[in-house]
Amino acid sequence: MNSPSTSPGRDLRCIPCVERHHEAVRAIFNEAIVNSTALYDLHPRDEAFMRQWWQAKREGNWPVLGLENEQGELLGFATYGPFRPHAAYQFTVEHSLYIEVSQRGAGLGRRLLSALIEDARQRGFHNMIGVIDASNEASLRLHHRLGFSPCGSIREAGRKFDRWLDLQLVQRLLEPASTGGAAM
Ligand SMILES: CC(C)(COP(=O)(O)OP(=O)(O)OC[C@H]1O[C@@H](n2cnc3c(N)ncnc32)[C@H](O)[C@@H]1OP(=O)(O)O)[C@@H](O)C(=O)NCCC(=O)NCCS
Repeated sequence: MNSPSTSPGRDLRCIPCVERHHEAVRAIFNEAIVNSTALYDLHPRDEAFMRQWWQAKREGNWPVLGLENEQGELLGFATYGPFRPHAAYQFTVEHSLYIEVSQRGAGLGRRLLSALIEDARQRGFHNMIGVIDASNEASLRLHHRLGFSPCGSIREAGRKFDRWLDLQLVQRLLEPASTGGAAM
């Protein structure tokens, strides 16, 4: 996929991702998989894998929010899903977000994650968890700036590029969406 042609900052729309975004989502994932430890996949995701990924999102009614420019090109996306399968975790979600490589460092991550937090809050979730590679300074900084706090770490949880990878967990508790009524 070619990089999106515009620079960010103007006229970006936050939209739910739909089928025409699927190839861009896969390309953004795969760039991060091949070139970084942001994801712990060792191989690019093929179309069959992504079909199942989208199906799980659809069946769980989980959001996949995107940022699109005036040309309809996808500059990044963010999503969440279950943290763990057991029923008592029903109010906790684990999220992730990815900005297209040529668009990073320009505030798009902040915009997308803010929208995702608001989505989770509106749907009544209580706790958002990010599971971040400990060397991912951009992601740690972004999460810190948006009110996430460290809530644990796992040393040498993964191995990629011939080295051990540490995980940093972060969390943010969500205040309930306003009902519009006066507090009792
Ligand atoms: C991590 C990521 C989502 C951040 O999005 P972004 O659009 O690049 O970040 P923003 O421009 O919104 O910046 C958010 C904050 O992070 C800081 N930041 C951005 N890039 C940084 C970098 N490379 N190193 C350190 N801090 C960085 C910004 O300065 C800003 O902090 P500030 O408000 O104190 O200035 C994006 O870089 C990305 O997609 N990376 C690859 C995939 C990934 O790591 N996803 C997260 C998996 S948990």
